[in-house]
Amino acid sequence: MRKPLLAGNWKMNKTPSEARRWFAEFLEANPVYAAGGEPAVEAAILPSFPLIPVAAEQLAGSAVRFGGQDVSAHEWGAFTGEVAAAQLADLGASYVIVGHSERRAYWNESDELVAAKAARAIEHGLTPILCVGEKLEVREAGRAVSFTLAQLEGSLSGLEIASGEELVIAYEPVWAIGTGKTASAADAEEMAAAIRNFIRERYGERAAANIRILYGGSMKPANTADIMAGPNVDGGLVGGASLEVESFSQMIAAV
Ligand code: 13P
Repeated sequence: MRKPLLAGNWKMNKTPSEARRWFAEFLEANPVYAAGGEPAVEAAILPSFPLIPVAAEQLAGSAVRFGGQDVSAHEWGAFTGEVAAAQLADLGASYVIVGHSERRAYWNESDELVAAKAARAIEHGLTPILCVGEKLEVREAGRAVSFTLAQLEGSLSGLEIASGEELVIAYEPVWAIGTGKTASAADAEEMAAAIRNFIRERYGERAAANIRILYGGSMKPANTADIMAGPNVDGGLVGGASLEVESFSQMIAAV
């Protein structure tokens, strides 16, 4: 059985002290997570890099996972400003986002680079949350599924996937990110089913059965249960609504 995952992408928000407060309040409000163990819904927070040591310290012993919003494709060396997978892994990170649409758009990240980053993350025991999704004009032209699957294919090139647990895929339609517009539950399910089918054809039944596929884009407490109802949607990648303890906690409850 695939365990649902709700991951909060904080993007470039919060100071270390604000993060410290968020973690303390979250654990107080959600004692099941504070106790460690294996709650029915996996929760993870993906803060900016300077907040990661704070997450490591505050979340130690709890069931809340954490990780980065990006990672270098390089192992080590003269790459000013980059962050190595080994550095995240050493701090106890579990996840790392690769190929977020903001990085693809503002830093021109190619499918090839995203695949290299995912490979590097897996090599270091991190689980990449690989993002794909179409722009509005692509959806309006009726090419959302074919575009997203082609982007996925490029972003997986050269990756070996066996169990399907090495990787999480997040479908984030670009037009739904930070806009207040959400894909309908039917559109999210249609895409998640198409992605699972692609994984099945490419990597086999076991990978398809295990791989988790998230939806992202203006998810909030009020639409979480609806979006999660599709059998192929295994959770969410949440931006704005993960910044407040209350809304993120409500979303976990809704999942
Ligand atoms: P919002 O939830 O703020 O729309 O952001 C979604 C997102 O980009 C998560 O990675």
